Amino acid sequence: MISDVSEMTNAGCVQFCPAFGETTANIAKMVGFIENADLDLIVFPELATSGYEFKNRDEAFELALELDNGAEIAQFKNLSADTDTVLVFGFAERSGEKVYNSSALIEPDGSVTVYRKIHLFDQEKFRFDPGDRPPGVKTTKVGRIGMLICFDWIFPEVTRKLALDGAQLICHPSNLVLDLCQKSMFARSVENCVFTLTCNRTGTENRAGRELTFTGGSQILSTRGKTLAVASAEGEEVISAAIEPKVTDDKNLTSNNHILKDRRPEFYKGLE
Ligand code: ACM
Repeated sequence: MISDVSEMTNAGCVQFCPAFGETTANIAKMVGFIENADLDLIVFPELATSGYEFKNRDEAFELALELDNGAEIAQFKNLSADTDTVLVFGFAERSGEKVYNSSALIEPDGSVTVYRKIHLFDQEKFRFDPGDRPPGVKTTKVGRIGMLICFDWIFPEVTRKLALDGAQLICHPSNLVLDLCQKSMFARSVENCVFTLTCNRTGTENRAGRELTFTGGSQILSTRGKTLAVASAEGEEVISAAIEPKVTDDKNLTSNNHILKDRRPEFYKGLE
C-alpha cells in the first residue's frame, strides 16, 4: 500500500443523463460536476461520455474514445490533476479494430487504469468486444479501488476476486434498466466487507427499435450494507459520503469469523 493513502475519503457518485451521441456536451457536463463537487473520488455512470443504446457495433466504434490519442482522456487527466480528484467513469473504448465497454480510473498523478467489461448485457454482446483482461485493484490516494461495470454485479465472483486482491472501494459505473442490482449490492458489500459505489444514470433512450429507461437510485453502501447515500430514481444528483477505506481491512465479522479465511473452497470446487 502507498504511504499517503487518506484516512477519510469524500467519495461521490454523479448520477446524470448523458445525451446519446453528444460526446462533447456530455463531457462538458461531467467537467462541470467535477469542478463543483469538491470530492476526493467521483464515480460517473457506465458509457457516460456517449450514451448507451448504440444501433450497432459501427456506431459504438464511431462514438468510442481512444485512450492514448484522444483529447478527451487528456482533458480528464488535466482535470483530475487540477482538482486533485480521483475519477472513475464509463466510456466506449476504441483500441485498434476492437471496441470495449470500459471504465477509466484517472488519478491526479496522471495515471490511467482501464477495466473492460467482461460480462456484456443483452444487446451489448452485438456492439462490443468482451473485456480481455482480468479485473484488477489499483492503489490510489483514496484507497485501493476495484472496478465493476453494471451487469458484472450479478457475478459475485468478480467482487470476491477484487476483495481477495485487496480492494477497499468497489467503483461501479452502471446503466441499470432492471430493479435487481441495488439490493444485490448489499450482499456484495457485506460478503466482501467493502464499500460499494454504484453510479447509475437516469433518463430514457429510444433507439435501435426499443425504449430503455434507466433506473437511477445510485448508492454508496458501507461494509455492513448500510446505505450511506442514495439518489432518486430520476434526478440528476451528486451523492456523497465520508468513508474510511481502512475499515475494510478488518475482515472479522465476529471474533471467530474471518469472511475470507473461513471460506472452504475445497467444498465448492468447479465454479469455473
Ligand atoms: C448493463 O449492464 N448495462 C445492464
